[in-house]
Amino acid sequence: MLELMSVYTSYGKIKMLENIDLVVNQGEVVCLLGSNGAGKSTTIKTIVGLLTPNSGQIHFEGQSLNSLKTFDIVRRGISIAPEGRRLFPRMTVEQNLLIGLDEEKSNCDQLKCWIFELFPALKNRLNQAAGTLSGGEQAMVSISRALMQEPKLLILDEPSFGLAPILVEAFYQTITEINRHGTTILLSEQNAGKALEVSCRGYVLQKGTIHASGSKEELLDNDLVRACYLG
Ligand SMILES: Nc1ncnc2c1ncn2[C@@H]1O[C@H](COP(=O)(O)OP(=O)(O)OP(=O)(O)O)[C@@H](O)[C@H]1O
Ligand SMILES: [Mg+2]
Repeated sequence: MLELMSVYTSYGKIKMLENIDLVVNQGEVVCLLGSNGAGKSTTIKTIVGLLTPNSGQIHFEGQSLNSLKTFDIVRRGISIAPEGRRLFPRMTVEQNLLIGLDEEKSNCDQLKCWIFELFPALKNRLNQAAGTLSGGEQAMVSISRALMQEPKLLILDEPSFGLAPILVEAFYQTITEINRHGTTILLSEQNAGKALEVSCRGYVLQKGTIHASGSKEELLDNDLVRACYLG
């Protein structure tokens, strides 16, 4: 579904991503693991056109994304819940959910119902300013906003960052639920143990290159992953 081939991305003269090869197949949950500054967000921004790769190819459903703007990439079926949530704090939850949607979208109510099934806590919060929600609720709004676009591929950049452990558990169950519903997921995480629990495969980024990759079982058994990310 998504394929990155030999992707290189720089910040000005500073080389960040080197030779990234990554595949996400339809129906999978794939995790992108790595510590602070490894290049996870840079990879995600490159996929969705917020950064332009210096070289390499990015294909989605067999078509190149390289020359497309973010807006067009979202229209093709990729949505992200970005690092740090990026909500509009003074706008209500509902306004945050509807932002970026085509006005004529007819199944809005149906989508909202599904979101309330996934995140019941949001049901009574629709008219509340997003900035007044708890961290956990803001994380729910961020994922829900991405789901309102009905993406084929949902990209989550450290969705559980900063959440209490009990919430992280519930969050991961919801991510599995979203995948069961038919949405393919690429999940960036520092928390390798949690991410691998819900993933079929994963990639480990270190200093902008892919250091290891494989199935969940292979990564759980990998010495580097065990030493650096599983403690
Ligand atoms: N706008 C920028 N200009 C220059 N360097 C940047 C910029 N954004 C990120 N970097 C650098 O690129 C590297 C990779 O950053 P990136 O945000 O992709 O890491 P990450 O894996 O997402 O880390 P984290 O887990 O902290 O979110 C870091 O060294 C970071 O300092
Ligand atoms: Mg990041």
